[in-house]
Amino acid sequence: MLIVFLLDCALELVPSEISSFKDVQKQAGRKGKKPNEILLDQTYHGRAMTKLDKSDRRGRPDIVFHSLVTLLETPLCKEGLLQVYMHLQDGRVIEINPDVRLPRNYDRFVGLIEQLLINGRVPVEGEPLLQVSKQNLSSFISKLRDESPNAETILTIEGGQKTSIRSFRDLLPDDVSVPVVIGIGAFPHGDISDDIKQLFNKHLELDREIMMAWHVCAEVLWIYSERVEVIRQRYSSV
Ligand SMILES: C[S@@+](CC[C@H](N)C(=O)[O-])C[C@H]1O[C@@H](n2cnc3c(N)ncnc32)[C@H](O)[C@@H]1O
Repeated sequence: MLIVFLLDCALELVPSEISSFKDVQKQAGRKGKKPNEILLDQTYHGRAMTKLDKSDRRGRPDIVFHSLVTLLETPLCKEGLLQVYMHLQDGRVIEINPDVRLPRNYDRFVGLIEQLLINGRVPVEGEPLLQVSKQNLSSFISKLRDESPNAETILTIEGGQKTSIRSFRDLLPDDVSVPVVIGIGAFPHGDISDDIKQLFNKHLELDREIMMAWHVCAEVLWIYSERVEVIRQRYSSV
């Protein structure tokens, strides 16, 4: 089972410090919503965001959108061998039902995430597709280690151990019953905190340059899929 954690996602509702800014009010008005009901987005709120702490790592919901579109509904996901979580910058973790069909349209995705952050789950009633978890990242990983002591925890990070695609593949267990947790930063700039780094046993650098989070998601997804031979198994089952 591959478990992908999108770390420190640049995904949040507009914070109160900038809700009175003209650009924010204007965009909220266009959407027929209150400022604190819309997602913070550098494209629309860049000027107001200069007033925010750590603004360069916030307000990029598109990073999460592209990463999720890359991961979900893939053969690995359809085989029930992929679980994806969003870890937000306030520490909350969002569980994603692997059966979720994400909107293909970015604006509709934004609407869905706004509902999630306002209500804590989507849909509000019935089986949740997305919901805020009761666990945080640290308790999730400790629990996983207690249940599966041989679980692998790998952080993809610049400055980690330089790793070619082939050696990355060889590091991964081919037994799907061994959980593999992979952490990928879903923010535009800055570093992953030491608190998060120390939760992962291995730190791997996958290229000499910085990659987009969704390219790292693609590499991880397809290398793991190849390692556990998911496509071969899907053919042999027909
Ligand atoms: C655009 S980066 C975020 C920027 C930030 N400077 C960082 O290093 O975390 C998105 C994420 O993709 C992963 N990533 C990017 N380039 C990488 C590389 N060369 N090797 C391994 N992981 C990489 C990391 O998880 C990173 O957090």
